[in-house]
Amino acid sequence: MKILLLGGGGREHALAWKIAQSNKCSKLFIAPGNAGTANCGENIDIKADDFESLKKFCVDNNIDIVVVGPEDPLVKGIYDDFKNDERTKDIPVIGPSKAGAVLEGSKDFAKGFMQRHNIPTAKYKTFDGTNIGEGLKFLETLKAPYVLKADGLCAGKGVLILPTLDEAKKEFQEMLGGMFGNASAQVVIEEFLSGIECSVFVLTDGKNYKILPEAKDYKRIGEHDTGLNTGGMGSVTPVPFATKEWMAKVDTRIIKPTVEGLAEEGIEYKGFIFFGLINVEGEPMVIEYNCRMGDPETESVMLRLKSDIVDLFDGVAKGDLDKREIEFDERAAVCVMLVSGGYPEEYVKGYPINGINDVDGSIVFHSGTALKDGQVLTNGGRVIAVSSYGKDKEDALQKSFKEAQKIEFKDKYFRRDIGKDL
Ligand code: AMP
Ligand code: GLY
Repeated sequence: MKILLLGGGGREHALAWKIAQSNKCSKLFIAPGNAGTANCGENIDIKADDFESLKKFCVDNNIDIVVVGPEDPLVKGIYDDFKNDERTKDIPVIGPSKAGAVLEGSKDFAKGFMQRHNIPTAKYKTFDGTNIGEGLKFLETLKAPYVLKADGLCAGKGVLILPTLDEAKKEFQEMLGGMFGNASAQVVIEEFLSGIECSVFVLTDGKNYKILPEAKDYKRIGEHDTGLNTGGMGSVTPVPFATKEWMAKVDTRIIKPTVEGLAEEGIEYKGFIFFGLINVEGEPMVIEYNCRMGDPETESVMLRLKSDIVDLFDGVAKGDLDKREIEFDERAAVCVMLVSGGYPEEYVKGYPINGINDVDGSIVFHSGTALKDGQVLTNGGRVIAVSSYGKDKEDALQKSFKEAQKIEFKDKYFRRDIGKDL
């Protein structure tokens, strides 16, 4: 099969690494890819949301399957765009329809969906410019801290957690006043849930589904979860509290009703569902949905997927995912993210990266890199993920921390406490 993978971050490098191992894959293209994906297939200089160019490329190159990494093309409707075009209607796109991607694209929709299908989540209400007063009153009924969510996509920055009622009221009004532009024209106010988070990933053909290994990610820049939110500083799988019993609750209370709910509502969904969960006194609840794999979770989860991912994608495309095998590696896997100094605030790009070839026993996934005259350069906030297997997470983490020292670029930073809280 000829496969086109869309995206250019660490998640996509990990997906490309896994796809390239399949003997069902005869050729892999990545659009636009990065310096790392170039080692797994051929990078194509087309942006992941340039649908016209992507469709032409697929037709010209007899692409059999398109795998979408990031949310942006999905929320913009790439699935429907391919389907509604005579030239590409038979090329399966792994990713939900535009209607399905709204699970990530609108917090209000996601909350309403969960309510309709009795899926456990925090109590909430949604407000806009017409009922600010009611929003302020609703805040008064809740206990601190206060959770405010911009309805639309804000590149992971749209959630504010405020310690006092005064701050919550102020920020609530600022959000509605355009803090995140149109994305915060509606604001979800919800109850704060206390617990440890866990990301659960499912691949579905719209009817059947397979649960992938779960993972925990580390979002804050500083050790012990301090400082600003980032795209993610590392990940660990498996997650100790995600026992068989806990995952059975996740399956019956959350995954099954979600997949069935999508079908009931006539929403086409053939792709990954990312369940952002929180463990509240032993009970799983949903914090958010995403319509794609997580980053940096993919950089550890792919290590634990033993089965052929292309066979699973083929099952999604053909609607017979129930007949495909999914097997996990029993070892633990972790990823430690090396980031540019200053990130997630201002940082400099273009520093040379050295030592990648000295890494031994870990897998290096590129997140934000570029290749210039044969030299790999930093090209983003999150630069490189160092992923490792281990007999347990401590073993895997030790390996990643050790190998992370070998990779050098100016102002490199990484968290040395990934996985220590579990
Ligand atoms: P989201 O963009 O929805 O993933 O939210 C970003 C982060 O905010 C989550 O990963 C949680 O750490 C936190 N968060 C969101 N909603 C809640 C909630 N209801 N209670 C506690 N923390 C939350
Ligand atoms: N790691 C969280 C995300 O991908 O949104």
